[in-house]
Amino acid sequence: MPSSRITGVGKYVPKQVVTNNDLAKVMDTSDEWITERTGIKERRFYKEGEESLSQMATWASEIALERAGKKPEDVDFIIFATLSSDYFFPGSGVLLQRSLPFRNVGALDVRGQCAGFLYGLSIADQFIKTGMYKTILVVGAEIQSNIFELSDRGRSMSVIFGDGAGAAVLEATNEPGRGILATKLHSDGKFAEELFSPNPGSRKKVRLSADMIEKGELLPYMNGKTVFVNALKYFPEVIREVLTECNLKETDINLLVPHQANARITAAIQKELKLPDDRVVSNIHKYGNTTAASVPIALCEAWEEGRIKDGDLVVLAAFGSGFMWGSAVIKW
Ligand code: ACO
Repeated sequence: MPSSRITGVGKYVPKQVVTNNDLAKVMDTSDEWITERTGIKERRFYKEGEESLSQMATWASEIALERAGKKPEDVDFIIFATLSSDYFFPGSGVLLQRSLPFRNVGALDVRGQCAGFLYGLSIADQFIKTGMYKTILVVGAEIQSNIFELSDRGRSMSVIFGDGAGAAVLEATNEPGRGILATKLHSDGKFAEELFSPNPGSRKKVRLSADMIEKGELLPYMNGKTVFVNALKYFPEVIREVLTECNLKETDINLLVPHQANARITAAIQKELKLPDDRVVSNIHKYGNTTAASVPIALCEAWEEGRIKDGDLVVLAAFGSGFMWGSAVIKW
């Protein structure tokens, strides 16, 4: 049975840098508050007309394809993880499909929020293992700067999230013990309303009205403490689960690439798994929390910095809204 290797990674982050001090000019917050609680110093916000979700995904994909030595027409399937698609429908997978000379291949949007890229990676891995496809493009991208309000009432969430895109090319390999060794996916819907955006959903007869906007009913909600507690439980658990399946231990990890939820969450996972700084990727200070884009951006950046070498054991893990969480072990 073939397995899947990541043969190319790419990323695109918007040009516009927004610092904590920039946010403090438009809402009652401070660099100190944001840095202390989240580790974030700055994030990127897209510019309408210059950047869009599918355009950022396209730029990230072009880099990943070039690094993999592949052309768009070599791709057999596209997986696009996002919670912030260009349109309400159709999904952004088809917009990516039309942006480059891909064939009329399948294009699947995945709604796994912060765990979206892990879900996408696992789906791609299964398609490659069954022999159905040989080359799959998996993307995680978000534009969130227009979801959260840059105001006092929106500050608890708007200071945390940012925009960006990351991409990975997966290819079939017959080399034993190489590539994605295992993936694990989980969910627990009893927490669905602990981190969610109820509107404009289909539960209400009137999905959208001026009154709803005025009352702030379009703003997402997060129970920060519940998210924190569960992230600290499920991140280490799902990392240990996937390692155990491969008969590996925490000490075997060369590089852990966790979803960049919050620097305090990453620090707690690192402590729990007893990993030194050089074995854990943390770039949230530069980009904020980019949800489905955070793992592929962090993976790409680590690769660009020479932190991932041939044969390294790389572990990816994510946890977020749903709650949904997952992990992957890769022999690079
Ligand atoms: N600037 C200044 N003050 C703020 C801000 C802000 N941006 N946001 C909230 N506050 C105020 C609140 O109004 C509150 O004031 P009060 O005490 O007068 O009522 C005070 O700061 C404390 O608010 P809390 O919500 O209790 O803040 P907390 O210390 O819990 O920190 C945070 C919030 C950072 C979200 C924290 O709960 C946390 O780290 N949670 C983990 C979840 C997380 O990181 N989620 C983001 C990613 S989700 C994911 O990717 C899985």
